Amino acid sequence: NEYQKLSGQIGNFETFASINSTNTELMQRLASKQVVTSGTVVVAEMQNAGRGRRGRVWQSPFGANLYYSYYWLLDDGLQAAMGVSVAVGLAVFDCLHTLYGLQVSLKWPNDILVNNQKLAGVLVELDGQPEGPCHLVIGIGLNIAMPENASEHIDQAWIDLKRLGMQVDKNVLIAQLTYCLEQRLAQYQVSGLSDMYQEWNKVNAFAEQLVTLNTGQKTWQGICVGIDQQGGLILRQDGNEKTYYGGEISVRKV
Ligand code: ATP
Ligand code: BTN
Repeated sequence: NEYQKLSGQIGNFETFASINSTNTELMQRLASKQVVTSGTVVVAEMQNAGRGRRGRVWQSPFGANLYYSYYWLLDDGLQAAMGVSVAVGLAVFDCLHTLYGLQVSLKWPNDILVNNQKLAGVLVELDGQPEGPCHLVIGIGLNIAMPENASEHIDQAWIDLKRLGMQVDKNVLIAQLTYCLEQRLAQYQVSGLSDMYQEWNKVNAFAEQLVTLNTGQKTWQGICVGIDQQGGLILRQDGNEKTYYGGEISVRKV
């Protein structure tokens, strides 16, 4: 039937009408030692178990949005994978700027915002040893046209491309996003964040604002200065700068 036609595979692209989570799909293949080609893309029209960080739910209604995962095999090991989220944020920035002239801002480590409303989120998951090859699953959830009642399920401000006045062709969006992502990942492989961190700092959503940073165990306050070359977040506290690393940290505006 028509619904089934939404599933299929062309080259490295796989489309699903419905899936638990595009990230989980790729992570499970890696865990069960299936061969996955670097550059494989999985997209779905809906997710039954869309995930954000720390087990949080990513609302994934049918047909409304982009649910996208990209598998990338990185040779250099986990050390080099630390700043990938930053590179991916810039790829989403590039894509939305090229297609729609949009100027999004980036919230460390993984949110894409417009006027402090969440338009997209990035979830990078790793499978690998500290030394040796590292398998990365790069998940991107991008809101295109959320249903009217979406706010009942989302406990923070959000936005989508339609409400921003954009006319979206999902195929073009997927193609452009993949192009921008591959450009940024290639740049990352060659030079890490050595050029990208300054670009990121120009679009930092919280630049020079007072923020709280929560590590799970402890909360800190400071002025958000930006990120360093490893992708760590720099806060100014009592005139001193301190850098915070790690994927499980949350930042909020005071
Ligand atoms: P932080 O990333 O700073 O820790 P966060 O609240 O953005 O904080 P994430 O795990 O990154 O946490 O994202 C999950 C959160 O995003 C959910 O708890 C919900 O508030 C929000 N959310 C869920 N689905 C969507 C969606 N489709 N669009 C926008 N926001 C969503
Ligand atoms: C976040 O802001 O916490 C990240 C949200 C990431 C959502 C995307 S949608 C495609 C991929 N599959 C998932 O289950 N999560 C990511």
